[in-house]
Amino acid sequence: MLKGKDLLSIHSLSVDEVEEILKFAEELKSKQKNGIEHKILKGKTLGMIFEKSSTRTRVSFETGMYQLGGHALFLSSKDLQLGRGEPIKDTARVLSRYLDGIMIRTFGHERVEELAKYADIPVINGLTDLLHPCQVLTDLLTIREHKGKNMVNLKMAYVGDGNNMAHSYLYGAAKVGMNISIATPDDYRPDSHIIMNAIADAEDTGAEIDIMKDPIKAVEGADIIATDTWASMGQESEHDQRKKIFAPYQVNAELLKHAKSDAIVLHCLPAYRGEEITEEIFEKNAQVIFDEAENRLHVQKAIMALTMCD
Ligand code: CP
Ligand code: NVA
Repeated sequence: MLKGKDLLSIHSLSVDEVEEILKFAEELKSKQKNGIEHKILKGKTLGMIFEKSSTRTRVSFETGMYQLGGHALFLSSKDLQLGRGEPIKDTARVLSRYLDGIMIRTFGHERVEELAKYADIPVINGLTDLLHPCQVLTDLLTIREHKGKNMVNLKMAYVGDGNNMAHSYLYGAAKVGMNISIATPDDYRPDSHIIMNAIADAEDTGAEIDIMKDPIKAVEGADIIATDTWASMGQESEHDQRKKIFAPYQVNAELLKHAKSDAIVLHCLPAYRGEEITEEIFEKNAQVIFDEAENRLHVQKAIMALTMCD
């Protein structure tokens, strides 16, 4: 179903395609744990364009490609002609002549869309200012592992900045029918067009979507609580101001009293302890947070195999 397609946004995937990715990720994870090789991308090359920093995305894509029998090329925009002004549409057409797939991490989402428009090989979004689909597909797998496959009766609460993670959680929850409450300060709400798209998807799956200001109300009865940095990549100069504005949105023991007693906490990492999450809550949830980090590998192997296979 996904063969030859791009993966730019969870919103553009069908419900069945999301299920296909999660199911195949489970299969690949089990194979890897049992030492069974699956070299489905033998002879294929993935180019990985990075215009922002990364630990998890870079290492998990590169290792995943190796495990699938292929090869990954790290392409920093600092070293590419792209960084000296070569148009993205030319870069797309050149790379399509050498590679079998491209993963890109960049700033404006329109850069990924332009790359995908001009490339005739699959393009995977490794994070833009707007969306982080690979991370949220990974989080859905992690939720399945810890809370069961039926996500319809679960409630997720996201507390903090209405950023790329918040947007992708909205899309992910809407696709799998999971209820989601997002609490942000007034000026940091998720984009309204993303909310509208998620509401449209939720009409098909029955997910309830609530956007609010009150973090306590958002976490009431939640099974999963997620947060993310208050200052994303590119917003470093706003860090001090954001620290003050977001202080009431910290995920701490007091806030978690309002969630279910067996609630899990997710964090895409990197985490800033003492800011969006306390050391205590981070360490209490370290098992699930590092399962989440590990699952990047399995989910992205599934995405690469499904989009790039012959
Ligand atoms: N969560 C995540 O995308 O991590 P990196 O920025 O390290 O890739
Ligand atoms: N919102 C964060 C996510 C990092 C993985 C950022 O864009 O920097």
